[in-house]
Amino acid sequence: MSTAELKKQISEGIPSELPVAKPYDSNINHAPKRKDILNGAEKRLAVKNALRYFPVKFHPVLAKEFALELKEYGRIYMYRFRPDYEIKARYLDDFPYRSRSAASIMLMISNNLDNSVAQHPHELITYGGNGAVFQNWAQYRITMKYLSEMTDEQTLVVYSGHPLGLFPSHKDSPRLVVTNGMVIPNYSSQDHWEKFNALGVSQYGQMTAGSYMYIGPQGIVHGTAITLLNAGRMISKSGEGLSGKLFVSSGLGGMSGAQPKAAGIAGIISVIAEVNPLAIKTRYSQGWVDEVYSDIDKLVKRVRQAKSDNEVTSIAYEGNIVDIWEKFADENINVDLGSDQTSLHNPWAGGYYPAGLSFEESNQMMSADPEKFKESVRKSLVRQVDAINRHTKKGTYFFDYGNAFLLEASRAGADILKSDGEFRYPSYVQDIMGPMCFDYGFGPFRWVCCSNDPADLEVTDKIAAKCLEKLVKNSPDQIKQQMDDNIKWIKEAGRNRLVVGSQARILYADAEGRIAIAEAFNNAVARGKISAPIVIGRDHHDVSGTDSPYRETSNIYDGSKFTADMAVQNVIGDSFRGATWVSLHNGGGVGWGEVINGGFGMVLDGTSAARKKLRMMLHWDVNNGIARRSWARNKGAMFALKREMDRTPGLKVTVPYIADDEVIDEAMRLF
Ligand SMILES: NC(=O)c1ccc[n+]([C@@H]2O[C@H](COP(=O)([O-])OP(=O)(O)OC[C@H]3O[C@@H](n4cnc5c(N)ncnc54)[C@H](O)[C@@H]3O)[C@@H](O)[C@H]2O)c1
Repeated sequence: MSTAELKKQISEGIPSELPVAKPYDSNINHAPKRKDILNGAEKRLAVKNALRYFPVKFHPVLAKEFALELKEYGRIYMYRFRPDYEIKARYLDDFPYRSRSAASIMLMISNNLDNSVAQHPHELITYGGNGAVFQNWAQYRITMKYLSEMTDEQTLVVYSGHPLGLFPSHKDSPRLVVTNGMVIPNYSSQDHWEKFNALGVSQYGQMTAGSYMYIGPQGIVHGTAITLLNAGRMISKSGEGLSGKLFVSSGLGGMSGAQPKAAGIAGIISVIAEVNPLAIKTRYSQGWVDEVYSDIDKLVKRVRQAKSDNEVTSIAYEGNIVDIWEKFADENINVDLGSDQTSLHNPWAGGYYPAGLSFEESNQMMSADPEKFKESVRKSLVRQVDAINRHTKKGTYFFDYGNAFLLEASRAGADILKSDGEFRYPSYVQDIMGPMCFDYGFGPFRWVCCSNDPADLEVTDKIAAKCLEKLVKNSPDQIKQQMDDNIKWIKEAGRNRLVVGSQARILYADAEGRIAIAEAFNNAVARGKISAPIVIGRDHHDVSGTDSPYRETSNIYDGSKFTADMAVQNVIGDSFRGATWVSLHNGGGVGWGEVINGGFGMVLDGTSAARKKLRMMLHWDVNNGIARRSWARNKGAMFALKREMDRTPGLKVTVPYIADDEVIDEAMRLF
């Protein structure tokens, strides 16, 4: 297709003639059928809602078609309106635009829906089973049309995938403001999501799905590698490292698929169970996992050999994770690090496959007999925890990987609580990510080259490495390890072939590092050393971006971990400090109603305006969270905040006085 034709189709919006209906493509990984949750009147409302996007002349055909989709899939995706062109990240100028910032947003949306990037591309789901970019194809089409025609004096407003419209604003305001799944707090249960989503009025945006900031599994490869390295430092008491050690987990999906690759980078043997053969095929064909086994006895033999040879290999097991934990316990295979990355934020609709049922049986049961399916999930979680407990008694370090495993296992009645009611195992943020990274401002900074050219990515890698190498010379001891890990990561990133989709890179940096790197990129764009603008952003899973009591803010111990002021303030603050787009979500990682999170995107186009904005916005975007973590008395954050106040005029943050426990004990005698 010529570029002119592509531009025409992207900016078309809803076509004036009905496109030909599209056959269901079974070569693509599809979302499972969703629960039949609406009553008769609500089903009627869902169809009526869907028809709002189309001229009345289409209604007789579409009303029946949409009713059928609702019946067959539990949702109205409007498959007929899926475009004919290939959706993927492209060179910025291949998109139709009047505003370059709007074109960069199109690039990011397109990457999130790329068949080789998205988990269920035809259902507009990027990752995590239900992490939606849009609810249906009409929303996609209208959004792309608006973006193609908007100017730098308008702002596009998107409510849970629905493009509310273009509103006049000004050139320094965000070009796009997105909210996902924001509901009245009392209406935030899992079933509320099912219902509102089936009605077409709300969606689960996960974190970077609904904010268009997903960069494929690379994002999580880095976080997982950092987590495994630091977990390894914790368990290798005499500094023996990870050689010959074993990591066991589950999931080769959107995010979880990064585990074997990250384990390889960290230098530990990994066994990852996955029930979906298509997910295994994808990761194996990408070279992210080295070997695949479906025979558990052969797997046991292979693992024994790898351990005794101190070999680093990553192995996918086609089957249920429960079987692995039980078998390895029976066979006395020592597991050093253990976790789980099934999608337990979405336990009843395909996020977790219970042991004892085949993949197909589960898919059928979850919609045909949801109560029986729920019971099977609960029983499976109880079995899984029993087996994990057998391992941890022998020394396995098990941690929750931000997928609501501990929460759902406890709700299922598994033996996962200590006598004081706390979880038996830590979340990876409590032990590792929180105190070692977030409290010091280190989080998942990322960028995307709008040229879509690997050569530009190579230049950015070099620039980023140079910036960090300069900064590390003056880094205090508390953050030296983080700086060194990230310098090593960025120097090896190109060789590790991490790109899937857009030309993107991630590394962990604090405010100082992020600002230095972004400024250097902006200068390089201005001087033509990088051929097109760079989009910077981050995962919501960051220092300030997410309030989530069992994950990002699980190491907040002043009682405020159930508040969400930080995440909401963060988005508001980013929006008036220069972000190109911002988004605020209910749900992400651990489930609807369990987390509030937000993110931003910012276009660096080489101008002095971009320089001013990046300095202002990145500083707030990190230090908001450090200030909150410091107020919660987190030692690392108190240190980082003091350092920041010393060097930043105008930054005055309320710092806590630390009460002496004896003084409080004395006062407590009054009760
Ligand atoms: N640790 C992090 O930083 C982090 C980041 C993002 C997401 N997450 C969370 O991790 C979870 C996984 O994310 P994802 O994007 O990979 O989701 P996903 O749905 O794409 O992948 C999960 C995979 O687990 C498989 N699975 C489910 N039950 C299984 C079982 N019993 N045995 C073996 N395989 C099973 C599924 O088939 C699926 O492929 C989510 O809950 C997500 O929110 C964690």
